[in-house]
Amino acid sequence: MKSHTLLMPLDMHLHLRDGVMLETVAPLTSYSFSGAVVMPNLVPPVTTKEALRAYKKRIYAALGRLEDANDVLMVDDFFEPYMTLFYQNYDRAFLEEMADEIAALKLYPAGITTNSDSGVKTFDLEIMRPTLEAMSDLDIPLCVHGETDGFVMDREAEFMSIYEMLASHFPKLKIIMEHITTKEAAAMLERYPNLYATITVHHLLITLDDVAGGMLQPHLFCKPIAKRPEDREALLHLALNAHPKVMFGSDSAPHPQHAKETCGCAAGVFTAPIALQLLCELFDAYGKLDNLQSFVSDNAQSIYGICPEFKEVVLVETPFTVPEHYGKVIPMYAGETLAWSISDIE
Ligand code: DOR
Ligand code: ZN
Repeated sequence: MKSHTLLMPLDMHLHLRDGVMLETVAPLTSYSFSGAVVMPNLVPPVTTKEALRAYKKRIYAALGRLEDANDVLMVDDFFEPYMTLFYQNYDRAFLEEMADEIAALKLYPAGITTNSDSGVKTFDLEIMRPTLEAMSDLDIPLCVHGETDGFVMDREAEFMSIYEMLASHFPKLKIIMEHITTKEAAAMLERYPNLYATITVHHLLITLDDVAGGMLQPHLFCKPIAKRPEDREALLHLALNAHPKVMFGSDSAPHPQHAKETCGCAAGVFTAPIALQLLCELFDAYGKLDNLQSFVSDNAQSIYGICPEFKEVVLVETPFTVPEHYGKVIPMYAGETLAWSISDIE
């Protein structure tokens, strides 16, 4: 039986939500990943030191990672939530104070996706400059949801001019193009040394045809929406060859079933519990399993300068039937059988 071992897998873009949903989904990621970059688009978004620390505590609690009265960790299941703040124009003193506690700031254009209403309304460099300069000096990466409010299939490509403006004006700022979906974004990576990208597993597997080509598939609907076959090919090329500026970020974005299977379907694909199995199957199919380690961990460690705790995940080519649901959330490929499963974790 074929098997493949991954060391310290990292999910560099993850939605953990809050409350009962957090309790449902957090253990599904901490089980097989060493750490994840946690998105700040709660309601209200995470914008203060107090909110960030309180959210991190709730994540630990959801993982059963208990702290004593002095905040000393008593139980540790080897998972690091890399926290992010929701991008606003913060002052330098605040960012200096937060630098050790955050992995990045996450920028959303206002209204572009779930819980992004208080995002950036206009990309005015003079207004953003103090924050971006401070981030650059403090080596805090800027993660960006790169979509305009144009025609849905063109939104990411239209955003490329904003990436160019940011990358050229702040050449030392690490800018991460989150969940890229187009050949335009893949090409943009090569043009600026300070641009990086995350890619989801669903965008490596599906195109718009899978979402809306037949019966509408709400559980495959996300933002940015899956694009054309040639776009998927460009993403596959980057991921399968473990391009050093590219990292795995699932963008696993759980919504309860009632919010997906309704008029006005919420955007988000829930992949956390099946991501590594799908990636093994995909990389194996292309004879590229040797590159998976870099894509799911090593590149992220270099780009973010992080050193995750040890975790070894053994996957085997044994069928795994995806559960119909996890709590109130329907995962991608619910009820279908994947070729690989997780056999052991140390
Ligand atoms: O599909 C998405 N869902 N895209 C995003 O950018 C946000 C996410 C969410 O939070 O549900
Ligand atoms: Zn996201």
